[in-house]
Amino acid sequence: MAKVKVGVAGYGVIGLRLATGVALQEDMELVGVADVAPTLSVRGLVEAGMPYRFYNAMPENEEKLKAAGVPISGSLEDLVEQCDVMLDATNAGVGAKNKELYARMGKKAVFQGGEKNSVADVFFHGYANYEKGLGQQFLKLTSCNTTGLIRAVDALDRAVGVEKVAITIIRRVADPGDYHRGLTNALQMDKAPSHQAVDLMTIMPHVDATGILVHTPVTHGHIITVVASTRKKIDKANTLEILGAHPRIRTVKIEDGFLGNASLFRYARDMGKLRGDLYEIALWDESIVNSGNDIMFAINIPQESVVIPENMDAIRAAMQMQLTRDEGTAMTNRYLGIK
Ligand SMILES: NC(=O)c1ccc[n+]([C@@H]2O[C@H](COP(=O)([O-])OP(=O)(O)OC[C@H]3O[C@@H](n4cnc5c(N)ncnc54)[C@H](O)[C@@H]3O)[C@@H](O)[C@H]2O)c1
Repeated sequence: MAKVKVGVAGYGVIGLRLATGVALQEDMELVGVADVAPTLSVRGLVEAGMPYRFYNAMPENEEKLKAAGVPISGSLEDLVEQCDVMLDATNAGVGAKNKELYARMGKKAVFQGGEKNSVADVFFHGYANYEKGLGQQFLKLTSCNTTGLIRAVDALDRAVGVEKVAITIIRRVADPGDYHRGLTNALQMDKAPSHQAVDLMTIMPHVDATGILVHTPVTHGHIITVVASTRKKIDKANTLEILGAHPRIRTVKIEDGFLGNASLFRYARDMGKLRGDLYEIALWDESIVNSGNDIMFAINIPQESVVIPENMDAIRAAMQMQLTRDEGTAMTNRYLGIK
């Protein structure tokens, strides 16, 4: 079978990781990446010897890009033309504009969490609704928190049925290097219910979900606490068995030194993971506890890398490369080295 040709629009925090992810999929070909300016990530691409071809999505910036030594392989249209599917990781709202181009050129596209749901035919998660994405033209991924949260809730749901979840999200306020967010030292409340709980219900309508979100001035990952009301009562051992079997959930222990989000980031770097990226969410063993008939636990969400596997799943569904969730997610996991 010919390799599926993929392009990435927007070479920022998510886009550069999508490019890495696609390059690792042996049944896909990364045609190139597009951005609008010589950003730090684009300068890094040049210094790395241009492992991917670069396309300019803003013609008026050609001189600036050339001055920064960026070799330009063509326009965004030139990139889209050569691709079967585009991964759009531009800033929120830009994807909706780019969609007009993808539609005009008859190409498939996968949008990220910052776009409105209306941008896509299906709001997609590789584990929760893979089959809904089959053959669709436009898919939208869930945000980083929702992606990780749904992995855990869907695994419990398939094993024992989930009626209700209540979550608290302790949200990192910025990505590393985001100077535009300011030098902060404060916590900030969001209005309830958090969009992640609402999004979970859009993808898993049989689960009653709600939640509260607190922004925190840290950059290395979010933590979500989940209280899940399951149809069949489960204890810590059952929970460890169900969530521990999920390829994209890693169980860690406070006892072993995983004290919080920063421990996981450091561990990923110490393992030599590119950019310190973990594709798995982490479940803290010692956080799992019963509250009456409910089960409560805490997970860590590596916001920069968590959505990469589900994006690969979205390509597989849209291009009908595999026809079931099990086969599609297993292929992604294999190529990304997720055990
Ligand atoms: N950062 C995270 O933790 C995170 C996690 C999950 C999902 N997301 C979502 O991913 C999307 C991208 O977020 P990000 O954090 O990577 O943003 P970012 O600002 O790091 O990257 C966006 C890139 O798109 C480029 N761009 C802007 N307009 C463009 C255009 N017309 N054509 C091509 N490139 C263009 C920008 O120059 C920039 O390099 C958003 O929808 C966001 O909500 C972000």
